[in-house]
Amino acid sequence: MTRKNKLPEFPNSYLGEKSYEYDNSKWMERNQNKTTLLCFQYLCDEKLDNVGKKDVLDKKPYITLDLGCGTGFSSEILIASGLKVIGVDILFDMLIKAKSKIPHLENGSNLYLILADMKYLPIRSNSINHIISISAYNFILHEKKDYKDRNKTVNNTAKSLKRILKPNGRMIIEFYPTNEEELNLFRSSFTDNGFNGFMIKQNPKQKKGQTFLLLKRW
Ligand SMILES: C[S@@+](CC[C@H](N)C(=O)[O-])C[C@H]1O[C@@H](n2cnc3c(N)ncnc32)[C@H](O)[C@@H]1O
Repeated sequence: MTRKNKLPEFPNSYLGEKSYEYDNSKWMERNQNKTTLLCFQYLCDEKLDNVGKKDVLDKKPYITLDLGCGTGFSSEILIASGLKVIGVDILFDMLIKAKSKIPHLENGSNLYLILADMKYLPIRSNSINHIISISAYNFILHEKKDYKDRNKTVNNTAKSLKRILKPNGRMIIEFYPTNEEELNLFRSSFTDNGFNGFMIKQNPKQKKGQTFLLLKRW
């Protein structure tokens, strides 16, 4: 997601002028669009049909949560792909830019936005069909320094995502673990709290860097 391996810092990379830079960067837009399309493809991947209880996705306008939607690059692609999207972001500076785009989008009425922390979602149980998160999920560990706190955060967040998803709900998380320990922490938080699935990496030998988790709620 970052150019020349420069890692973004939360929240400074997304506040004030930086939120404008993010939203106006053609490179970033192209990159995030490409990643979102790949995540949408993974959401419909037939390998996920056979994970847990077998099912097949049809063409319904599923309600999909975009966790950490930022200025709306990912949400825009998801509504264009036929989904109804609830975009969630913790930063007003990012979310307000997504909001300003709605009137100009085809099917803009299929995008709803919520200013919230993805760790504590104000969303009813069993109400969401699917979840997608692009380049945002690792930020739930922001300022979580010791192992106990990190462990509690990833597990509680996974439990709350299971709570809001309908049974068989699919979830695609694209994120950037910083090392193997962090990768395993995220993976086990899902498998220990009601999800089955698998991982895709461009380079499976590399534990950090871009990672896709393809998950399905039991
Ligand atoms: C790199 S941007 C990605 C935005 C968007 N998904 C895209 O593809 O362009 C990361 C976003 O995650 C949001 N974020 C970080 N921590 C969050 C949290 N705890 N809850 C909700 N959003 C969060 C940030 O505010 C930022 O807008």
